[in-house]
Amino acid sequence: MGRSRAAIVLAAGKGTRMKSALPKVLHGVGGRTMLDWALSLAKDCGCDRIVVVYGAHAPEVGDAAKNAGATAILQDPPLGTGHAVAAAKDALADFEGDLVVLYADTPLVQADTVRRAFAALESGADIAVLGFDTQQPGAYGRLIVEDGVLKRIVEAKDTNDAERTVTLCNSGVMAGDARTMFGFVSRLNNDNAKSEYYLTDVVAMADRAAAVMGEAAEFAGVNDRLELAAAEARFQARMRREALLNGVAMAAPETVVFHHDTRIEEGAVVEPYVVFGPGVRVAAGAVIHSFSHLEGASLDAGASAGPFARLRPGADLAAKAKVGNFVEIKQASIGAGAKVSHLTYLGDAEVGAGANIGAGTITCNYDGFRKHRTVIGEGAFIGSNSALVAPVTIGDGAYIGSGSVVTQDVAPDALALARARQEAKPGWAARFRERMKKEKR
Ligand code: UD1
Ligand code: CA
Repeated sequence: MGRSRAAIVLAAGKGTRMKSALPKVLHGVGGRTMLDWALSLAKDCGCDRIVVVYGAHAPEVGDAAKNAGATAILQDPPLGTGHAVAAAKDALADFEGDLVVLYADTPLVQADTVRRAFAALESGADIAVLGFDTQQPGAYGRLIVEDGVLKRIVEAKDTNDAERTVTLCNSGVMAGDARTMFGFVSRLNNDNAKSEYYLTDVVAMADRAAAVMGEAAEFAGVNDRLELAAAEARFQARMRREALLNGVAMAAPETVVFHHDTRIEEGAVVEPYVVFGPGVRVAAGAVIHSFSHLEGASLDAGASAGPFARLRPGADLAAKAKVGNFVEIKQASIGAGAKVSHLTYLGDAEVGAGANIGAGTITCNYDGFRKHRTVIGEGAFIGSNSALVAPVTIGDGAYIGSGSVVTQDVAPDALALARARQEAKPGWAARFRERMKKEKR
């Protein structure tokens, strides 16, 4: 292993353009907060110490950072990106090694790209800046490169006419040896258009600064909800591409919504308009039919769900289990080859292998105070429109007559009928119609 690495995550900006009571960096992309994206990026590129700089308007950000095992430092008032890095100095006083500055509002940066910035330090640069080339440099700081060497960064508001046309931009990610970086930062002034302490000014102080180029899309920052939606779209495109290249069949990938932790094996099929919430695992050969919504669910090989299935946390479908349309499953395991084909709610339940759950079956798992379990044995047959009032156990191979309200355990291989016996009145309907016709005249 080479030198130790640490990260400073800048998150003290106000984020007012989000127009949200939730602090900007706690908004999610792919179901994970932008702050968590920055923390996982730091870990993925080898930083074992992480300092998050947050603002007084958003103490929740500091709490979230601490809960994730990072050090949280309050920057109050925030006086610029250079000032923010200086605020982290004491927290890293005993740290020796390379430092990277990341922004918490730039969720799509890849670990490999940041590793290239560290690599530039290892090849002798004292500061490495991740940059990109764009035809719309707009408000980005411009990288001024002369004879292939990065000389300085000019903030958009401080550019002259010539500098404004430069298309090489600063992503905001900057790496440097910790001692060098903190030394430079302590010498910054705020003599500029925004009267801020710009981190970017350290580049001009360096003997050897390097610009490491990446893709513009990767560095897209989030300042408002429009940009948040754009970041989400890019993230989704990335997930879909990975899934397709990994052998997941998707006829209309643009309609499938992923969560950052969705795991789908090669050879699984995902039909159009499927939404994955957190914690879903789909094995090879499983099929998710259209319009299904899954979270915390797992499907083993050859299992299927939908169309219009709702799999909630703890829905575990064993091999070749089938969950059909308008079925909701929560905290329930469905045994191998079992079928729950239509219009059913199974919650806090265990369904044995090969069981058949008829249309309209409901587990009554909640008494208004507590949840109770329903256990259905292997090969059992639950007649349509049955209510299983938990706690209750249906034995292996038992039959439940349609329309039953089952309140007591049923023995293996027994038949349970829990409904009113049918009454027959021959000729009643004809007599009824005759009488009604006469009365109407
Ligand atoms: C910054 C860069 C610019 C770059 C752009 C990329 C500087 C001076 N400019 O500009 O060159 O092209 O990012 O998006 O660095 N923050 C703090 N404390 C502060 C100020 C900012 O934590 O006092 C945080 C913000 O929360 C944000 C990040 O630092 O995460 C960037 O700050 P922002 O004000 O958005 O910088 P830009 O003006 O966009
Ligand atoms: Ca910004």
